[in-house]
Formats: sequence, C-alpha cells, structure tokens
Amino acid sequence: MISTARQRARELHEKLTAEILARKGQKAAGAARVRQVKDVRLLEEMRALARRTEAELRPSGAMRARMSRIELRVRDEMRFLRNWASNPLSVAALAPSSQELCRLMARYVEADRDGVIVELGPGTGAVTQAMLDRGVAPERLVLIEYSADFCALLRERFPGVNVVNGNAYALGEVMEELGNPPVASVISGLPIVQKPLPERQALLQDAFSRMAPGAPFIQFSYMLVPPVKGLVGTTISSTRWVLANLPPARVWLYRNGDPTPLAG
Ligand SMILES: C[S@@+](CC[C@H](N)C(=O)[O-])C[C@H]1O[C@@H](n2cnc3c(N)ncnc32)[C@H](O)[C@@H]1O
Repeated sequence: MISTARQRARELHEKLTAEILARKGQKAAGAARVRQVKDVRLLEEMRALARRTEAELRPSGAMRARMSRIELRVRDEMRFLRNWASNPLSVAALAPSSQELCRLMARYVEADRDGVIVELGPGTGAVTQAMLDRGVAPERLVLIEYSADFCALLRERFPGVNVVNGNAYALGEVMEELGNPPVASVISGLPIVQKPLPERQALLQDAFSRMAPGAPFIQFSYMLVPPVKGLVGTTISSTRWVLANLPPARVWLYRNGDPTPLAG
C-alpha cells in the first residue's frame, strides 16, 4: 500500500514539474500572464506538497534499521525454535539470550590478555555480536558450535570469525586442530548443567590449562547455585540477575588461582 502511494506521489511530482517548466517557458502578457503566475505558484505549492508526502511515506534510516533489527531477531527466534525442536537437550533454550545478558557476559571477556577468545555454544551469535560490539577483533574469536545449521549462519553473519562445527566438551581436539593457540578468555552459552558434574569440571580444567592464571571462564546460567562446583583452586562469583532474559539468568565467572571478585 505504501509503495502504491509513493508511486502516485512520484507520478504527480513528475507531471507537475513538467507543467511548471512548460509554463515558465511561455512569454504571456497582461491578465493572461498574471493568471499564469498564480497557476505557477499553485503548482509549485502542490509540487512541494507532493514532495513532502513522498518523504513522509519513506521510512527514515533509523526506522529502517529498527525494522531490520526486529526482522533479524524474529528470524533468529524461528531458527532457534527449529533447532530446539530437532535437538531440545542440546539447544536447551527457545530463543537467543537477551541483549542485556549478552552484553553483561561480553563485559567480562579480557581481550587485553594474549591469545584467542573461545566461545562455546554460540547459537545464532547473540553473545558473539556483543563481543564484536565491545571491539574484540573477529579473527581472535573461535566459536565452537554443535549445530551445523547455526554454524552456517555464523559463518555468513560474522566474516573473519573462526567457526568450528564441533563438540565443546572435546575442547582439546578442537584446539589442537587450530595449533593450540593460547586462550585469553572462554565464554560459554552451553546448557552445561545438563552434563554430569565430572564432565563439567573436566571442561573447565581443560580451559584453565590453556589460559594464563586468573583468566576468566564465563558461563551464564538460569540456576540458583553455581553451574560447576568442586574445583580446587578456583574462585567463583556471580552477577546480578538479568530479569529481562527469558528465563531470568545471571553470569558466573570462574578464575583459576585468582581471587578477583566479579562486580556487576
Ligand atoms: C542455550 S543455547 C545458547 C546460544 C547463545 N549462546 C545464546 O546465548 O543465545 C546453547 C547452544 O549451545 C550449543 N551446544 C550444545 N551442546 C554443545 C556442544 N557439546 N558443543 C558445542 N555446542 C553445543 C547448542 O547448539 C546451542 O547453540
């Protein structure tokens, strides 16, 4: 409907412009000339009106950006649902995490340390986007995602980021294939509590063995209690709840051998 109205406004604009130009070219005298000047003014006003109508029908840049963000979000939610339906235990959420939760997680990434930043279970890339927005260079990111469908989307959406279609709990194998680079931080969206505790502990220990002392392992969780416990020499802290997330969640920070508490 908007495009039909816009087309009409454009046609009117072109017609009036042609008429104005034709009349301006005429050399009339006396009363006829006065009448023509009035007509020309009227036509010019109509022309301005037509131009304004067209501008009002055209969404602004900000509005277009907002529309495309909403469209993107809806598409991601559909994709999430589809992946959840085919693998509910692994995807474990009906929608991507909220922007607020992703930003909170990304805040604890320590990009000033040496090495790559490993993201486990990136899904459609909500946390990835938050890290890029914070200024993390795409080539420093290594994303390990189980779903081939999500991996295809991530590669398309984040050129320059390393996307590995693999199992996060086999972190050693994945990192070996990449030449065992040092790791600055690990950030995880894995539904970690679904795994037996020894597997969770083994994942964190493997991650710590690749990071400098005190480097963070960042995990979000919907649980009241720490999603991983019983690790010797590891400090654990958590943030406030992000109530806008569905379900509400908070961020847990694990550091090996560093007592730095988590604020936020
Ligand atoms: C709860 S979703 C979180 C997605 C995203 N990080 C977010 O917050 O919107 C969990 C993601 O972890 C992935 N995942 C589950 N188990 C995995 C595993 N063993 N290795 C890699 N990815 C896994 C799922 O495919 C899904 O994309």
